[in-house]
Amino acid sequence: MDKTSIHGMWSSRLMFILAATGSAVGLGNIWRFPYMTSDNGGGAFVLIYLGCILLVGLPILMAEILIGRHGRVSPVNTLRGLVRESGVSRGWVGIGWIGIVAGILILSFYSVVAGWTLHYTFLYVKQMFGGAPISDPGATFASLLGNPLELTFWHAAFMLLTVMVVALGVEKGLERAVRFLMPALFVLLLLLVIYGMTTGYMGQAAVFLFRPDWSVIDGGTFLRAMGQAFFTLSLGMCTMMTYGAYLPLKGVSIPRVGIAVALTDTCVALLAGLAIFPVVLSFGIDPAGGGPGLIFTSLPLAFEAMPFGIVYGLLFFGLLAVAAWTSSISLLEPATAFLVERFGVKHRKRAAIMIAGLSWVLGLLSVLSLNRLSGVRILGRDIMTFIEFIANDLMLPLGGLLIALFAGWALNRTILREQLSDMPESLFLVWRWLMRVVAPLLVLIVLVRAVV
Ligand code: PHE
Repeated sequence: MDKTSIHGMWSSRLMFILAATGSAVGLGNIWRFPYMTSDNGGGAFVLIYLGCILLVGLPILMAEILIGRHGRVSPVNTLRGLVRESGVSRGWVGIGWIGIVAGILILSFYSVVAGWTLHYTFLYVKQMFGGAPISDPGATFASLLGNPLELTFWHAAFMLLTVMVVALGVEKGLERAVRFLMPALFVLLLLLVIYGMTTGYMGQAAVFLFRPDWSVIDGGTFLRAMGQAFFTLSLGMCTMMTYGAYLPLKGVSIPRVGIAVALTDTCVALLAGLAIFPVVLSFGIDPAGGGPGLIFTSLPLAFEAMPFGIVYGLLFFGLLAVAAWTSSISLLEPATAFLVERFGVKHRKRAAIMIAGLSWVLGLLSVLSLNRLSGVRILGRDIMTFIEFIANDLMLPLGGLLIALFAGWALNRTILREQLSDMPESLFLVWRWLMRVVAPLLVLIVLVRAVV
């Protein structure tokens, strides 16, 4: 018999796809993917990233959804139940704890960067009413980063938006936010790609994005490409497991929704690249080594130059903020669901506020690392980059590795087959061996090579 979740259920298959895509598509695609590509030499990074999505990301995405849908509760409790049911070591529950910690860490800096997009949206609103244009985007960006109060304000505003949705719960909160705004973002990106074509630099941009130069690649590149693959698909920290817990058993094929989500996410990242690099190149900016400011220092140049640029700028940063919003709620949801199971469903609001508050305070470290504490270095990184490194590049792949092993070795075949009932036996076998051997091995090699 199919259980339902105490947290509510998605009202339809489409809603789940929208929510999962909303989680996957976010700053990871539009802010992080372009500058990681830029900082890591272009084509070769993109190819490794695509390989990770296909061989590691997609199969683990399916595993997370199926584990969640079988368990129907927050990750920690789902794993507790499964461990009992399958008679395996309690140690597996650690996966859920990694997820909670990674979620809080990621949300802390995610909200800071999302705050930048709110600030830029606001700048374009001001321009509509006659405010000064962003004529020197580099200076505008630098002055934002140099202002801790401004950063803290937008970080707080964004965190508040996130808590509001999560406090309302699945049907009332999450679904409403994703229904219209995701498709709108997609259309806007397409328009920007078309604009990119008019610059005459699309060819060069494509070469930079897709022609691999293997000479610039080392162990660290593999680690960052893999971390990016996990980050962009919201994997390794039980987000997709949590969303899977609210997914009905009947009429929804996990392989299909998995492919839909992974494909959309990848398309958005590549589109973002094709939208941004022509602009970067046409304004004579060096595409290599753009850093986290890349979209903020390059795109405003294009908006300044194009007709109705202010409207585009407003829509772009506004929708990017929304995309970040539908992702940040999914960063907050797993830990919140866990606390709700502790305190009772009446206390969802309190649970969400507690976790978000903790994340917000941690985020202040990222805020300060951009200005007052910019000289502080941990393992050669500033504080924000260090938190990002620990959470994205280490914890997510580690969480994913354990999820793969858990799904591949600890879960019995009956459970897997019930969840993946529409998968032909041959594909099921391929998936199971990807989980058992291929994905864990690839992640392990990358982690070990990068650390040693
Ligand atoms: N996938 C989101 C993005 O690309 C970030 C995210 C990571 C969300 C992990 C949830 C969990 O922006």
